[in-house]
Amino acid sequence: MTDKIIELKDLCKTFYAGFRRKRVDAVRGVSFSVERGEIFGLIGPNGAGKTTTIKMLTGLIRPTSGVMKLMGYEGFDRRCSQRLGYLPEVSYYYESLTAFEILDFYAKLYGIREDRQKTVEYWLERVNMSHARNKRLGQFSKGMQQRIGLAQALIGDPDLVILDEPQSGLDPIGRRDVADIIRECQKKGKTVFFSSHILPDVERLCDRVGVIRNGQMEVVGTLNELLSKDKRIEIVLRGKADSGFVARLEADANISLVSGLDTLSITLGPKAVSGLNDLLSEAIKQGLVVEHVMERGADLEALFVKEG
Ligand SMILES: Nc1ncnc2c1ncn2[C@@H]1O[C@H](COP(=O)(O)OP(=O)(O)O)[C@@H](O)[C@H]1O
Ligand SMILES: [Mg+2]
Repeated sequence: MTDKIIELKDLCKTFYAGFRRKRVDAVRGVSFSVERGEIFGLIGPNGAGKTTTIKMLTGLIRPTSGVMKLMGYEGFDRRCSQRLGYLPEVSYYYESLTAFEILDFYAKLYGIREDRQKTVEYWLERVNMSHARNKRLGQFSKGMQQRIGLAQALIGDPDLVILDEPQSGLDPIGRRDVADIIRECQKKGKTVFFSSHILPDVERLCDRVGVIRNGQMEVVGTLNELLSKDKRIEIVLRGKADSGFVARLEADANISLVSGLDTLSITLGPKAVSGLNDLLSEAIKQGLVVEHVMERGADLEALFVKEG
């Protein structure tokens, strides 16, 4: 049974910005869904529409058109808010509150009464901020703010966690800590939806990703699905190849070929990879030596960078 915790259908958001009310179509017909228990990564360059999508999901702004369902409720329903944890892209926290005070404040908002202090201490420890428990937020670096923001998003034990660029402003260790916390959320049965413009973060962490660009979703799928579309195989053959064999390879639009003095470097594109066995057996029959066969690291980067 599929259990969709987020469902978006043709979601659009248009802003009219500035004095001249210039029209900005920030999100233009986005559709996708997120299953309960998934880690879903929304990836796209700056200005792609990630934050706008997340603001609609968290009820901060209303969609201009389209349908949004969260936890089965249409639109943003109050019944969701207690079950939702949210890390905004920019956190405007109260600068004069200490780390402890801000988390204590959110713990109260989430209705935590018993063991509230213990819960706050637990989360300070979990995001490695115990040392700064009595420091004011105004003195925090971006990375420290991000850690407190993450603790704030998780302190209410939400079913759905929405994080806008949780790893931005963090050093590599900080990014790994955040990744660990996201995995831990999944182990506890939560759904995590987060955005990023940093590919490796998404690649290692997500069950599914969506690539958004110019307010439109280009692709959505499991990493495997997205990457297999881009699978290529590189082959290097050594020896004197039959000219008919070379001509056939050259004529195939899905194969690219570089002939060296004594070698043939062949790349099978996604549509040609199924012909690998036939190609190799023919090469061997001709007495060519198979020096190298490798699946080229189809990666998200290729997909992401494509058409910039
Ligand atoms: N409140 C707003 N008023 C006008 N334009 C906006 C507003 N918020 C975002 N935009 C524009 O919408 C587009 C998408 O922005 P955003 O969702 O913040 O992208 P991302 O988070 O992917 O970097 C950008 O062109 C941005 O300038
Ligand atoms: Mg953003």
